[in-house]
Amino acid sequence: MHSDTRLYPTAFNPLLITPSRPLPKKIAVVGAGTIGPDIGYYLKSALPESTLYLVDVVEAPLKAAEKRLFGYAQKAVEKKKMTPEQARAVCANIVYTLDYNQIKDCELIIEAATEAVSLKQRIFAAIEERVKETAIITSNTSSIPADRLFLHMKHPERATVTHFFAPAWRSLPVEVIRWERVSPEVLDYLFWFFAKTGKSPILTADAICFVLDRIFDNWCNEAAYLLNTASAGQIDRVAEEFVFAGPFFVLNMANGNPIIIETNTLQMEEGTHYLPAPILTSVDHWKTHRPGTEVRMSETVLQQVRDRLLGILFSQSFDIIDRRIGTMEDVNFGCQVALGFRKGPLDIMKDLGEETVTRIMERFRTERPGFPQPKKPVSAYQDFRRYILIDEQDGVQILTLRRPQALNALNDEILDELLSVLRMGSENPSVEGFILTGYGTGAFSAGADIGKFPQMLGDKTASMQYAKDCAKIQRFLDGMEKPVVAALNGPALGGGLELAIRCHAIVALKNARLQFPEITLGILPGIGGCVVPYRKWPQGAAVFNDMILSGRALLASDAAGIGVVDHIADTYPEMIKTAVQMARTLKGAIRRIPDAPVDMPEIRIPEPPAAGKLPLSNEAVAIAAKTIREGAACSSLAQALEKGYEGFGEIACTQAAKEGISAFLEKRKPSFQQ
Ligand code: COA
Repeated sequence: MHSDTRLYPTAFNPLLITPSRPLPKKIAVVGAGTIGPDIGYYLKSALPESTLYLVDVVEAPLKAAEKRLFGYAQKAVEKKKMTPEQARAVCANIVYTLDYNQIKDCELIIEAATEAVSLKQRIFAAIEERVKETAIITSNTSSIPADRLFLHMKHPERATVTHFFAPAWRSLPVEVIRWERVSPEVLDYLFWFFAKTGKSPILTADAICFVLDRIFDNWCNEAAYLLNTASAGQIDRVAEEFVFAGPFFVLNMANGNPIIIETNTLQMEEGTHYLPAPILTSVDHWKTHRPGTEVRMSETVLQQVRDRLLGILFSQSFDIIDRRIGTMEDVNFGCQVALGFRKGPLDIMKDLGEETVTRIMERFRTERPGFPQPKKPVSAYQDFRRYILIDEQDGVQILTLRRPQALNALNDEILDELLSVLRMGSENPSVEGFILTGYGTGAFSAGADIGKFPQMLGDKTASMQYAKDCAKIQRFLDGMEKPVVAALNGPALGGGLELAIRCHAIVALKNARLQFPEITLGILPGIGGCVVPYRKWPQGAAVFNDMILSGRALLASDAAGIGVVDHIADTYPEMIKTAVQMARTLKGAIRRIPDAPVDMPEIRIPEPPAAGKLPLSNEAVAIAAKTIREGAACSSLAQALEKGYEGFGEIACTQAAKEGISAFLEKRKPSFQQ
């Protein structure tokens, strides 16, 4: 990330920040309406030891909130996302209260009351009267700028906006607003805090509606204006090319018309073109369909609606970027993770090309005069990295893979970006080496993007080529002069582990795990996974066999026992510090992967083959075992890697691969036949 150090002065990867205070033990959420309890559930799930005070002025929403939280926890247990003990801890120590005095010892207070400035200001006064001067106070407003909200506070430096998205317990992003009076210490802490508790915070400037509601509210408002051209169902259908659910479907679900009226009225301070569509005041519920339903319309209507929806989407994106309300990276990322866009607005522009985007914006200028137009050539809005954050410490670049919505799974774009960043850094004399880590607390990387697999299954040549193409980053790592140290912040699975083991050293958090789960998908690790570990750490051969043929997970400490992991860190800062030191000492001393064939212990295939309780495919396991054996016998690394790609091509044509991949994508257990 390079585009705005004004918004991100300290670190792009929030976990690189050294927090000035510990995690809070007592937290309050004020407002038990729609989103407050969901924020509370997220906080308690992330910090089960803490005490949560859920405050309201009437009893009924508190009772409903208690029921809702129990329901969430129960569902989490049913879905095996939590153990019953964890669920009990989440629901314990929650005080549902009408009494503000109870929150006096809270270290973090999040206001989630109705969207009205005067009411919120009264709440902040009530909170400030009771809590310590050091307590952090935030508002979940989606639209009101911080300088208005916190106008009368005695200590505004400890206050800002932290804006969640529905459902707040699951949705990853939180907008954290950087306004002129908030202290850098509080801002840094909150940015770190949200990442530490599993969210993906993004910083925005203090503008009306910040980044993401500016896009969402205008998208909906424009859809309402389009009702004189097409029906709600037709507009939703056109929108579904870009979003998982159309604007009217979402407005129905969220009872959102009053919100759009309110937020767009607020935006009218920037011009009358933001006027809310009058029809929003007279309709309660829109006549539309479930996403995916076929809806007929003429080509002219389709193009008209499509151009206008894209016009508003692009106009708002350009404006946010030009006014530095948010970065290109975050506009693109946030729309996908918070608003259900299939691709970010800047991705859509990239696909359409400059000429089409310019045509759409020209048409939009004529149809909707006054709305922002781009201030730079359209191509300038492509000059950013979508997935790799770059920070720097002691001459070492810390590269963070940011795709938390898929546990940092590796798609073609991430790999291309990573390769280009490594190439650039390799040529830059001021860069001594690199750390490679994953964003957040969920995973280092959950492997290759499984969503891509169905396209090549059944085609041996295409599958081999896919493995080879993915491997270009690994081949580059093999030849690098500057060291790359993998810092495993969480599980390194499949393709993620194949990336980590090609780095020149590995540091891992103590709870990280290393795993090749491919065989449970009916495939094998084809990007070096069946070959490289045996050559780098021959003493671990029996363990690797077990990992590849039965999907066994290896704890970081066990991986350290066989030399795969070089250092186990207790904390994130220790992991990064050690990795930086290691990168500096490895300079000029990188050990290359040996070429010589490997003596393999006999490969024992359990009968019947299984991964824990999951029966595996005999055919797939046999192909994986053959690949390991043949790879080990090769007299050069290059030949051995070829065997790995071949093995992947072969296994991709089995019934097991088809079943395993379909099962993952359909979120069910696979049932292997042969
Ligand atoms: N490719 C694409 N998407 C992936 C992915 C991968 N390798 N791994 C995880 N994801 C996605 C999930 O589909 C899910 O997306 P959704 O929220 O849109 O449904 C999201 O990441 C979160 O994963 P989820 O499975 O809901 O999290 P979990 O905590 O229940 O389980 C794992 C975590 C890692 C056990 C599970 O995601 C998994 O088994 N992933 C595949 C690992 C694998 O086989 N990797 C090897 C591939 S080569």
